[in-house]
Amino acid sequence: MSDNEHPVDSMPLDEKASDDRSAGVMSALQALESRIDKLESNLLARQRESNLQLYRQFEAFHWLTQRLSIKGRLPPLRGWPLSPDILLELHETVSANRPGLIVEFGSGSSTLVIADALAQIGQGRLVSFEHSPHYAEETRRSLEREGLLEWVDLRVGELAPWQGAHLAFETEEGAKSTIGDESVPHWYPVPLLEDLDAIDFVLVDGPPAGTCRFARYPALPALAGKLASGCSVWLDDAGRWEEKKIIEAWAEHQAATVEQRPMEKGLAIVAFDDAP
Ligand SMILES: C[S@@+](CC[C@H](N)C(=O)[O-])C[C@H]1O[C@@H](n2cnc3c(N)ncnc32)[C@H](O)[C@@H]1O
Repeated sequence: MSDNEHPVDSMPLDEKASDDRSAGVMSALQALESRIDKLESNLLARQRESNLQLYRQFEAFHWLTQRLSIKGRLPPLRGWPLSPDILLELHETVSANRPGLIVEFGSGSSTLVIADALAQIGQGRLVSFEHSPHYAEETRRSLEREGLLEWVDLRVGELAPWQGAHLAFETEEGAKSTIGDESVPHWYPVPLLEDLDAIDFVLVDGPPAGTCRFARYPALPALAGKLASGCSVWLDDAGRWEEKKIIEAWAEHQAATVEQRPMEKGLAIVAFDDAP
């Protein structure tokens, strides 16, 4: 053994401490490297899923535009509106099943797409509820431009305090929430629904989630007694936690079959054994 070499237990203390520190740094580096590898493969997996989703939406949009007769543009289909996959399914379903009376909550692209399907089959009626006079006017102008106004009864009313039972009162999470500066759930003005009867198809895509907790819950209670037997209810954004709770609550009150379709934002199709 040369003068510079010491067995570990006879190393000077400062050298031993320095070796321990190096070993510590090496193992921290290895742990960091393995975390970075994991992050990288997660990111790649997400990127692949996002590319696939984008392609699916592009493909759906292509087939949607093949079906549509409208000449002008649809509003941009990212963010707030129904995604192309659901719009395509909607057009196909209305064309194939020919529901006589359709009700939708939340107007926009879906209003144009449904009206286009009705015009193509030459029958049916859409009653569309909208809380925003601004967006209602945009939708009305698009329908007019496309000569589709006659198929749609667009009913506009500011959201009003909801008087019935509400999921926001039943869940701990809901009770803690606030709606704007109030704790009262809001929904479309119920008197606007009074004359409706024997509805064959319902699309629930409003009010927007930001307006109150479980904002779309009242759709079913508000339509009680107004649905035709065999009516099907579509709820968009069914992948969100609040919408999942809404579906559970609807199905608890009334025996129902719920089909979850793996669309971009999730689509729940609810069919009731007996019309509520
Ligand atoms: C979830 S979106 C529903 C949109 C509709 N079902 C559709 O597929 O386009 C809910 C609300 O967004 C609002 N909205 C409509 N057009 C919009 C636009 N161009 N930009 C932002 N919000 C819009 C309306 O107030 C509508 O009730």
